[in-house]
This record gives sequence, structure tokens and C-alpha cells, in this order.
Amino acid sequence: MGKTALITGITGQDGAYLSDYLIKKGYTVHGIKRRSSLFNTDRIDHLYQDPHVENRNMILHYGDMTDSMNITRIIGDVKPDEIYNLAAMSHVKVSFDTPEYTANADGIGTLRILEAVRLLNLTNKSRIYQASTSELYGLVQEVPQKETTPFYPRSPYAVAKLYAYWITVNYREAYGIHASNGILFNHESPLRGETFVTRKVTRAVARIVLGLQDKVYMGNLSSKRDWGHAKDYVKAMYLILQQDQPDDYVISTGVTTTIRDFIKMAFVEGKDEEEVGFIASIDENKFANIVGNKQLELLKKRVGDVVVGVDPAYFRPTEVELLIGDNTKARTKLNWTPEYDLKALCEDMVISDLALMKKEEYLKDGGYRILNYFE
Ligand code: NAP
Ligand code: GDD
Repeated sequence: MGKTALITGITGQDGAYLSDYLIKKGYTVHGIKRRSSLFNTDRIDHLYQDPHVENRNMILHYGDMTDSMNITRIIGDVKPDEIYNLAAMSHVKVSFDTPEYTANADGIGTLRILEAVRLLNLTNKSRIYQASTSELYGLVQEVPQKETTPFYPRSPYAVAKLYAYWITVNYREAYGIHASNGILFNHESPLRGETFVTRKVTRAVARIVLGLQDKVYMGNLSSKRDWGHAKDYVKAMYLILQQDQPDDYVISTGVTTTIRDFIKMAFVEGKDEEEVGFIASIDENKFANIVGNKQLELLKKRVGDVVVGVDPAYFRPTEVELLIGDNTKARTKLNWTPEYDLKALCEDMVISDLALMKKEEYLKDGGYRILNYFE
């Protein structure tokens, strides 16, 4: 018999990669999904099975992190071997607009999971992974950041996650639950939410290349992030729960890059003093297979055009300027190593967004403009 996992936040970026990974390992995966007025299961549709199929290995339950009874009922019904608590209001900037909700879903939501496991007498059965974050380091007290670096959260999101981190440690120490924190640094992918910085950039690049958008407005270009690929990071989540002893681990690449340099890597050159980005040159090899000759010619004419601007509306009241993680513990104890570097990640995202935008454009215009663009 394969193991049973329960994933909160299954419709999100990490939920999708983790479900795929666990199902391939023979798990039965249960996921908690919020009710929404439109389908929001795009990222997991390839795994979905109709309820009438026998012996399903993917089962969805309606639920919400703010509803204790619902969380307790689902955990009681599923009795999972492993719980991956990935659900959260995960956007740092938005948490300044919705601080109370963020505290409830991201902070108390974690308590609801832990307390359900305790009340249901599952402390010896259900292992718990808590999606902790490098945002806990905030105003960093040490460079690079490791498991012992003191926390200094800088947003309502990070403060809520600080509670979640410590309540996970507390339930481990108080009740012996196999509960662990993965302190994950930023990880991205073609499935990344469209309003996080990398995806905002790669989508804009695709749209600019295809002539669908002239310019993109960004926030603080000087902050630095340690970016990895979500595909690598969900493997670390799995490994953390396979250890005999629960523990907390930093998961990172150990390389940090400014937002400005990520944008350059994706497409354009920057003029730092004016905080604008322009198309310095077109890498024909990069785009030739995707956009075809006519579009490439149009694109070459845009060399010199300003395509990136800065809008202070995207600045945060308090910023996290520098994140870079020391992943020594994960490398040695979990035997985890990331496969993707930032260049490969960026390429994966740009190529995927180009394909996506091509499809959207094709659908929108009944195919006419695509003939124009791609011969
Ligand atoms: P994501 O794409 O934003 O996904 C978040 C998931 O949580 C979605 O499935 C969302 O459902 C669900 N959710 C939000 N509020 C909920 C609620 N009240 N009840 C039930 N479900 C709710 O985030 P991600 O990038 O996959 O990240 C996964 C987790 O890791 C999050 O906890 C995030 O804070 C944490 N984390 C992420 C990173 C990163 O760089 N990606 C780094 C460190 C930690 P809908 O689809 O309905 O919105
Ligand atoms: N979103 C966004 N949009 N960020 C921008 C923009 C913009 O237009 N312009 C500049 N930035 C800067 C932000 O100010 C921040 O310094 C950096 O880009 C990264 O922002 P996000 O991609 O939104 O991610 P984040 O680092 O705030 O948070 C993500 O990573 C955390 C782990 O460190 C989220 O996934 C969190 O859920 C996660 O915990």
C-alpha cells in the first residue's frame, strides 16, 4: 500500500509540482481546494480524476485554512501519513492590504492543522511539513542566512509565518509530533503566480516579443533574491518528511541576484540611473525557434526602445533587500541538491510564457494575427 498525503494549497505552484511528484512515487494525494466562482485548478488538471473512477490516486476536498471544523474533519477522514501545509495568502505586498486575513490563514491556519492532528490522536501517524519562508529573515541579521540566523520579519505575511514557524516547533517539542519547517527561499517556475516578480517579467517579455504589450512597470529593482526552481524545491519538502527525526531546514541555491539582473537575463539591458530598461540587442538564437522570421525582424526594429519603467506603487512599506541562503544542512543531511541554476530557470519560464502567449493570441484572434506573426 502506498502512503497517503494531504496537501493544503494544492492548486498553487508548489501544490501542483508536489502532487505530481508524490503521485509518481505511488502516493494517494488528497488536496484541499477553496471554493471559487471559476475553476482554479489549471495547474493540477492533468492529475485530476473524476470521482467515479475507482481507486483514485488524487482526491480533492473543499476547504479553507480559516475553518477549523472543516480542517479537522478532512484530516479525520483522510488520516494522512504526511501533511504538507502549503496553503497561504502568499503575496508579501498584498499582506500589507489584508493583514488580519493573512494572520488568520497563514498563522492560525497552521495551528488548526497541528491541533487537529493532536485532537484526532494522529500524533504518531501524521507527519507535518510547514511551508516556512526566507521572508522570516527580513531585515537580515547575518549573510548568508542559515537555520540559526535570527529572524526579523518585515511584513504582515512574514509575521504570520513567524507564528506558524514557532507553533510548529512548539507542537514538535510539546507533543512529539513529527513536524518540520522547510525555510524555503524564493522558488519560481512556469507555474508561478503572475504577480510575483519573475513571472511578471517573463510574461511581459513574452508579450513584448509578440507585440502584445509595449512596456512593463516594476517596483524596487535593487532588492536581491536567492531564486531556485519549484521542481527542485518540492523534492526537498518530500525528503524532509522522510527523515527519522523532524527538523528545520534552509532550502536555497546559495546564489543571489538583483531584480534588475533577472530582467536583463530575461530580455533587456538596464540604464540604472534612470531606472528604465531598454532593448539593447536581440538574441536571435534565443527567439528564432519561437517567433519566426517576420516577428524577429519586427523585434529587431525595437532595439533601443524603453520597455521597463518603475512605478512606486509597487514599492513595499518595508522591504526585504537581500536574501541568500546557506543550504549546507540540506545538502549534507537530506542529500538534496538543486538541478536548475537561475539561467536555466529563467529560460524555462520565458519559453513557457512565449508558448502560452502565442496560444492566447491565437485563440483571441481566431488565428489571423498569428499567421501574420509567425508566417
Ligand atoms: P501560491 O502559488 O500562492 O499557492 C498558495 C495556495 O494556497 C493556493 O492553492 C491557494 O488557493 C491556497 N490558499 C490560499 N489561502 C487559502 C485559504 N484560506 N484556505 C485554503 N487554501 C488557501 O504559493 P506557492 O508559491 O505555491 O507557495 C506554497 C507555500 O510556500 C505558501 O505557504 C508560501 O507562503 C510558501 N513559500 C513559498 C515560497 C516561494 O518562493 N514560492 C517560498 C517560501 C515559502 P487558491 O488557488 O484558491 O488561491
Ligand atoms: N511582486 C513584485 N512585483 N515584486 C517586485 C516588483 C513587481 O512589480 N518589482 C520589484 N519587485 C521586488 C519586490 O519588492 C521584492 O523585493 C522582490 O521583487 C521579490 O518579490 P516577489 O516576487 O513578490 O516575492 P517575495 O520575495 O516578496 O516573496 C516570495 O518569496 C517568499 C520567500 O522569500 C513569495 O513567494 C513568498 O510567499 C515567499 O515566502
